Amino acid sequence: MKKLTSLQLREKYLQFFESKGHSIIASSSLIPENDPSVLFTTAGMHPLVPYLLGESHPNGKRLCDVQKCIRTGDIDEIGDATHCTFFEMLGNWSLGDYFKEDSIKFSFEFLTKSLEIPIDKIAVTVFEGDSDAPRDDFSAGVWASLGIDKNNIFFLAKEHNWWNSGETGPCGGDTEIFIITDKKCDKPDCSPACDCGKYVEIWNNVFMEYNKKADGKYEKLSQQNVDTGMGLERTICMLNGVSSVYETDFFSGAIELVCKLSGKEYLSDEETTKSMRIIADHIRTATFILGDDKGVTPSNMDQGYVLRRLIRRAVRYARVIGMEACGILEVSKCFIAKYSDIYSELAKNADKIIVELQKEIDRFSKTVENGLKEIEKVLKYVQNNMLNGKTAFRLYDTFGFPLEMTVEICKEKGVEVDVDGYHKSFAEHQLKSQKGAEQKFKGGLADSGDATINLHTATHLLNAALKKVLGDDNIMQRGSNITAERLRFDFNFDRPLTADEKTSIESMINGIIAEKIDIECEEITVEQAKEKGAIGVFESKYGQLVKVFTIGSYSKEICGGPHAKNTADLGVFKIQKEQSSSSGVRRIKGILIKSN
Ligand code: SER
Repeated sequence: MKKLTSLQLREKYLQFFESKGHSIIASSSLIPENDPSVLFTTAGMHPLVPYLLGESHPNGKRLCDVQKCIRTGDIDEIGDATHCTFFEMLGNWSLGDYFKEDSIKFSFEFLTKSLEIPIDKIAVTVFEGDSDAPRDDFSAGVWASLGIDKNNIFFLAKEHNWWNSGETGPCGGDTEIFIITDKKCDKPDCSPACDCGKYVEIWNNVFMEYNKKADGKYEKLSQQNVDTGMGLERTICMLNGVSSVYETDFFSGAIELVCKLSGKEYLSDEETTKSMRIIADHIRTATFILGDDKGVTPSNMDQGYVLRRLIRRAVRYARVIGMEACGILEVSKCFIAKYSDIYSELAKNADKIIVELQKEIDRFSKTVENGLKEIEKVLKYVQNNMLNGKTAFRLYDTFGFPLEMTVEICKEKGVEVDVDGYHKSFAEHQLKSQKGAEQKFKGGLADSGDATINLHTATHLLNAALKKVLGDDNIMQRGSNITAERLRFDFNFDRPLTADEKTSIESMINGIIAEKIDIECEEITVEQAKEKGAIGVFESKYGQLVKVFTIGSYSKEICGGPHAKNTADLGVFKIQKEQSSSSGVRRIKGILIKSN
């Protein structure tokens, strides 16, 4: 295998796919543009949903990139060898161009020729088929024809070999690629589905030919797509033969710093190792969220809440290894320096990252102080030296006091905590909020229904009207979330809007709608878009084509999503609510009322 640095692998990958006719596109923001089905970009395909559904991409049918991703579903696994909350995904796509055979051949060539991975170290899985889609004998055949041993080709069920982008949207069976490590497993039916660690997944090629509808049914898409994703960190880990992603160049520097600041040695014992890995992982992720151009700040909602949890969890583990909370700032600076060449937004937003981290650390120490007082009170009424689970959960839910700290403090007083009861209360609460979230995200833009398309178009008008009415050109979109029922639009502004301002915004938008303006779309380079005064996120690479949507003389915006044809389609716009979203950010909820 070829020993590569992360920089080399990023380059090698992009060059390889460029040589196979793919255009290199830039990493999108971590905060999804118009996809309400996820809080963060969790895969390279998320920003590409409209194109996978059939819209034409300005850069052609073959694309590749390195995408910043965040997945927090695995947060409890952080600290093991392979999971990270932030990671980079190397991806290549065919938008209705090549399909299974070429996709597998490209992957095989890259792995065996460019990365020099021996064939007998590669195992693959393919979809075994069910009532929704047939068994993928074709892909298995291609792998076998390339020389992969039949014993290293596994057929697995939907839970392993099917990829959905969310509850609804483009999806399909996949073929996953694994490195066979030296770990031994004595289970007779060991396969890549086994959790023994013998097989480490590095790449997933999804054959996206279905669209999952809200009623759970699958319909064929108008085109057959390929969506692949290769985990950069894991692949580097495998190529360099190190035992965890934390021993790769992504974390070098940060781990040494944590050692210095805590006076502890990495890998000295399990608790120290796990704590150091959690600190490094969480602060890297927090740095990227805060440093994103659409960066959110810690709050009690959505992305802000995830960010808050990451920072606080890092502070808590810093405590475990005897590192001062403010050491976290140094760790963040280390990541800013490491990644700024590739992700220039980190350098640009460096001050903001550090200021926001500091603020959250201060807030957390206040929380801890208050929580300590509350625990003192609660402990007075404890019976049989056992703190019940509901109370432990209330301490967490109301006071933000983490369970581990409750356990730690109670232990000092000889009191046990009903941890099972805590988890039960937690699960009940989660179920409730999950139901809420499902409701909230019902009918997202991924469905591309008329209602969502019209509401999305209305956000362009809202964006323009805000600048005009509030007389501030620095107002920028900070987030957008659209369901079939309403739009939600976040923007930077530091005070509530007055009633007059809200009325003026509505009138301006409804005026534009009444003008019945055709919405024009042009595909130009990002530099041309800038010259023409388009707004939007200029995250594309030099020379890359982007779509610019123009609405009369009112709005010119770089955007990917589908739009209405004429403003007359929109109906009547109304602001339902205007409120604070987080510090310095306001949130507008708006609706469109059918005019006829
Ligand atoms: N979307 C697929 C994944 O995330 C392939 O990129 O695994």
